Amino acid sequence: AEGARFTVALDGPAASGKGTLGRALAQACGFAHLDTGLLYRAVGARAAAGEDPVAAARSLVPEDLSRADLRSAAAGQAASRVAALEEVRAALLAFQRDFARRPGGAVLDGRDIGTVVCPGAEVKLFVTASDAVRSRRRWLELRAHQPDLTQVEVLEDLRARDARDRERAAAPLRPAPDAMLLDTSDLTIEAAIARALSAVEAARR
Ligand code: DC
Repeated sequence: AEGARFTVALDGPAASGKGTLGRALAQACGFAHLDTGLLYRAVGARAAAGEDPVAAARSLVPEDLSRADLRSAAAGQAASRVAALEEVRAALLAFQRDFARRPGGAVLDGRDIGTVVCPGAEVKLFVTASDAVRSRRRWLELRAHQPDLTQVEVLEDLRARDARDRERAAAPLRPAPDAMLLDTSDLTIEAAIARALSAVEAARR
């Protein structure tokens, strides 16, 4: 119904395809989309420039989210490091929860959306893909800006980040017990979107 609140939680490891899926789902359903990794990347960038990460998380402004270079591998590692800090996570929670409750529906993608940020989300998907597929996808994305990067370096980077994200004490990366698993290794983007859409449609009925 018009103005109804409906939340889709998309979680999964780096380069699993959740960003692409999140954008496509939001577009198809007319929902707003929040890439929560961008919040951690912005905090990581400010911390890399010498600021205290907790102070940065508490004073994040929209301009921080459009900083250059937030998509780089280095920014991903900086994000993963500050994301292990409980106080950083706590400072970003209210913004994410407010976003999720906006009228008209919302899709949030991240690591802890289904477990911590929106445990009551109407749809929860845990998106995965094999290491080979993830490293190839991310390498294809990054190589325009980093032509010397190898796929092996990308793989090592993803593995280090995933290990840190899984093993931290504060809101570790893991599927919510009620999440649907979506392995995109052998799916085209269109097929993955179709599966996610059918999960949303089933929950809306
Ligand atoms: O989704 P991403 O690759 O842009 O996320 C960058 C890092 O931010 C990721 O390695 C861990 C952290 N993150 C998190 O801890 N919780 C989230 N909800 C989203 C991202």
